[in-house]
Amino acid sequence: MTPTQLFDPASSTYTYLLFDEGTREALIIDPVDEQLERDLAELQRHGLTLKWTVETHAHADHITSAARLAELTGARMAAPAGCDVGTAAVQLQDGDTLDFGAETLRVLHTPGHTAGSVCFVWAPRRQPEPALLFSGDTLLIQGCGRADFQSGDAGKLYDSITHKLFTLPDTTVVWPAHDYHGRSQSTIGAEKASNPRLAGKTREQFIALMAELHLPRPRRIDEAVPANQHSGLRQDAGGAPPPDDTVRPAPGYAGDVTPQTALAWMQAGRAVLVDVRTDAEREWVGFVPGAQPVAWKQWPGMALNADFDAQVRAAAQHGQPLAMLCRSGVRSIAAARRATELGLVAYNILGGFEGDLNEQAHRGQLGGWRKAGLPWRQN
Ligand SMILES: [Fe+2]
Repeated sequence: MTPTQLFDPASSTYTYLLFDEGTREALIIDPVDEQLERDLAELQRHGLTLKWTVETHAHADHITSAARLAELTGARMAAPAGCDVGTAAVQLQDGDTLDFGAETLRVLHTPGHTAGSVCFVWAPRRQPEPALLFSGDTLLIQGCGRADFQSGDAGKLYDSITHKLFTLPDTTVVWPAHDYHGRSQSTIGAEKASNPRLAGKTREQFIALMAELHLPRPRRIDEAVPANQHSGLRQDAGGAPPPDDTVRPAPGYAGDVTPQTALAWMQAGRAVLVDVRTDAEREWVGFVPGAQPVAWKQWPGMALNADFDAQVRAAAQHGQPLAMLCRSGVRSIAAARRATELGLVAYNILGGFEGDLNEQAHRGQLGGWRKAGLPWRQN
């Protein structure tokens, strides 16, 4: 596999796009918010479905586009468990794997640059293709990430590099998160032999060397780290109530939102997605992972669900906003109005799961969750 290496000149960050040739399912590592349009164009150019956005750590020098990519493409967000990125649905631990099509990326926990930092390893299915290491800020070309802020620890960094990364085959290609001198890749063998911070250095020598660097504080750290701990959703841009431009006002409830907006809110923990279809509809047509089932009406006979009030209150937990999903966006309006009468904040998801009937009386063609390519599953 040859990853597509993309560069953000403002922060000298490398973003990597990997995909499976057969299924065209893709994964992106360390995307940068200023490069969102470029990355979307890249996905389109290769005809890819983005399955995962992943981070090597909570960056201090740029803001991730993970949440916006997830909103626009339906990708799931994954981040290292030790990095306090609460908005990521998948919290990565050492040894975890991420699948995209027939390809797999394995997580290596490599504390040191930050306590939660991870690297990702891709192993070839056919020899003699080399393995790939996406080394984040743990190992750079002829260097390594700093360890003097953000829970950094030079001793742990030395252990992570020498005990974990340097045990990979020498032919493993190293793809770092940054380079400031125009270099794009290295190998484990080359770094073992000639990385000036590590080659021939003891743990004590490495710690002493790192303590002598006296690097300036990253210019964007105060802005970037909190934003990255929310997958790039900036807290100064509104925080809890969702931004107004994604909500269409409506009488009797909080407003209408697109399926993409509802998914982004659910993934960011800003709203609970409530599926108000019948049990039979969810079972036969498909369901949305993570949504709370609270039927508005039930088969047989489509009688109103007598327990709706109690169930929808329970779904809102501590007064969280609700986003209501039905089959085509009609029942969900009635359900959102009822939830509003109960004192809850409830939005309607436009088009529902399948959209309206088209001229041939088929669903799934005129909008809705499934047509937008958002995550769903069949029982
Ligand atoms: Fe970093």
